[in-house]
Amino acid sequence: MMIVADVAGLVDHRRARGAGATGFVPTLGTLHAGHLSLLRRAKSENARAWVSIFLNPAQFSDPADLARYPRTLERDLDILRGAGCDLVFLPRAEEIYRDGYRYRVTENSLSLQLEGAARPGHFDGVLTVVLKLLLLMRPDRAYFGEKDFQQLELVEGLVHAFFLDTRIVRCPTLREPDGLAMSSRNRLLTPAERARAPALHRVLARSLAERLAPAETADALAREGFEVDYVADRDGRRLAAVRLGNVRLIDNVE
Ligand code: PAF
Repeated sequence: MMIVADVAGLVDHRRARGAGATGFVPTLGTLHAGHLSLLRRAKSENARAWVSIFLNPAQFSDPADLARYPRTLERDLDILRGAGCDLVFLPRAEEIYRDGYRYRVTENSLSLQLEGAARPGHFDGVLTVVLKLLLLMRPDRAYFGEKDFQQLELVEGLVHAFFLDTRIVRCPTLREPDGLAMSSRNRLLTPAERARAPALHRVLARSLAERLAPAETADALAREGFEVDYVADRDGRRLAAVRLGNVRLIDNVE
């Protein structure tokens, strides 16, 4: 596995990569089985699979949230090696934002709702870094999980708006055996919170089976001990964001 830590090195590898398609999985690091499923799919559908690990400061509106975010780089590299990743890109923030983040991508509608309303500037940070990474990597396909459904739709919109030559591949959410959607943030839950967290998916799934309205679903989540940020229906999915202590959890069901 090639480890590339700077933009010039990445561009050299890209220019020399030869024939065959490239699949790309962007990550914030602290990898889990959900990331691995994206990597496996990228490997199976392309000649090579490239991953980035970049804890993107621009998408964290709350500095405390960034400081708290788990970091497991050595373990991540071992996992990627074991999974047959061909190249991992580990850029530094100073290089990615060599313009001081003066230039950024702003979407003016969906990005202001739901996650965007709760985390001002979050999607500017996500869309800006995804654009930069896609321009650097020039992958044929890029793999995004459906757990971050709003992000996925915004990234699809970005590719469409800027005529990018990459196909965005939607990948299903991976869940723990008790139903909790896999997320790097799950590591931040206390044992008591971790025991309560699967109720998010359970209540969401039940709310569809019982045809509850979003407001009734929010009430059911509150009864399970969550501080509910939103429950909303969008494009055939029910999306929710809740808080357990200091940890924000999101999930959605089709
Ligand atoms: O979903 C994530 O992990 C991040 O938002 C992404 C797409 C890697 C951009 O930093």
